[in-house]
Amino acid sequence: MKATDIRSIVVAGAGTMGASMAQIFAKYGYSVTLYDIAEAAIQRGRDLVRVNQESQVKSGDLTADQSAEVISRLSYTMDKQCFASCDLVVESILENLEIKQKFWAEVSRIAKPDCLLCTNTSGLSITKICAEVQGKERFCGMHWFNPSHIVPLIEVINGDETAPETAEAVYEFSKIIGKQPIYVKKDALGFIANRLQAAILREALYIKEQGIGDFADIDGAMKYGLGFRYACLGPLEVVDQGGLDIHHHIATYLWEDLADDKYPSGLFEELYQAGKYGVKSGEGFYDYSGEKAAQSMKKRDAMYLAMARAKVTEVEPE
Ligand SMILES: NC(=O)c1ccc[n+]([C@@H]2O[C@H](COP(=O)([O-])OP(=O)(O)OC[C@H]3O[C@@H](n4cnc5c(N)ncnc54)[C@H](O)[C@@H]3O)[C@@H](O)[C@H]2O)c1
Repeated sequence: MKATDIRSIVVAGAGTMGASMAQIFAKYGYSVTLYDIAEAAIQRGRDLVRVNQESQVKSGDLTADQSAEVISRLSYTMDKQCFASCDLVVESILENLEIKQKFWAEVSRIAKPDCLLCTNTSGLSITKICAEVQGKERFCGMHWFNPSHIVPLIEVINGDETAPETAEAVYEFSKIIGKQPIYVKKDALGFIANRLQAAILREALYIKEQGIGDFADIDGAMKYGLGFRYACLGPLEVVDQGGLDIHHHIATYLWEDLADDKYPSGLFEELYQAGKYGVKSGEGFYDYSGEKAAQSMKKRDAMYLAMARAKVTEVEPE
């Protein structure tokens, strides 16, 4: 199956990610079925779509007519026969290895032999998820980022038995739906983006614990300095611009001073053990009591949207 042969898509799991991804496929003209296992989950999916479509019309990203067309291309079902005739299945169900394995063992036997099979796991092994899949060569990871209608990145991840044509088709298809895909050649924990994110988090916590800076200053360094650059250049491009000689010299004295913990500890562990999970519990590194949680999420989404509008992935100089 080539990217351009794809016509109909099933998204399994009508939750936060599934409902959002389904709308993107539909926006690009594909007919999409959202599959879930419970009536309540289907209803939640419909509600997520409605709220998201309303906000896109309100923000001017879609006209009312365009939004109606998107909605008309979406259907909902609890019947597994939907997998029998589609060209692409993107699974976005519970992040649990056994549940995903069971799902795929069954669905890969219902799907057409050339149907592309993708999992949106956040970090489970692609190879383990497809352990019982019939036709492992057509299976790969397709990792989206929340909120997926705004964040451009999709990681296309090879399992041990993924055929090169499969990863290529999913990569090309991601471009067709307006995304910025990258290849993850090897099935490694955290893929690429979450490995980079974890390295930054580990150092950020270490900086706080060493008394070098407070949370707002650490976040500020990222948002106003590094993040600003990283929206345009990756860490390797940044070094090429600054000079490998400079960065090599810095590495010779700085790397040995950096965090190298193997497990979460200190402050991170304490907050976690105290149930301070962040926005969802009203406190994390910052205070989200009362209205602050909802406000912080609204502000986040407004900033992400502004960024998405401003973001031009490649600009050629005049
Ligand atoms: N939320 C995120 O930020 C994010 C980002 C990237 C990837 N992911 C991954 O996407 C997947 C879904 O996450 P989410 O946040 O949308 O979860 P969610 O809880 O919002 O939705 C999961 C849905 O899967 C359904 N489900 C459970 N078992 C099922 C089965 N056997 N068959 C069909 N449907 C089933 C549930 O009913 C629910 O509707 C997970 O693998 C998660 O790790 C999440």
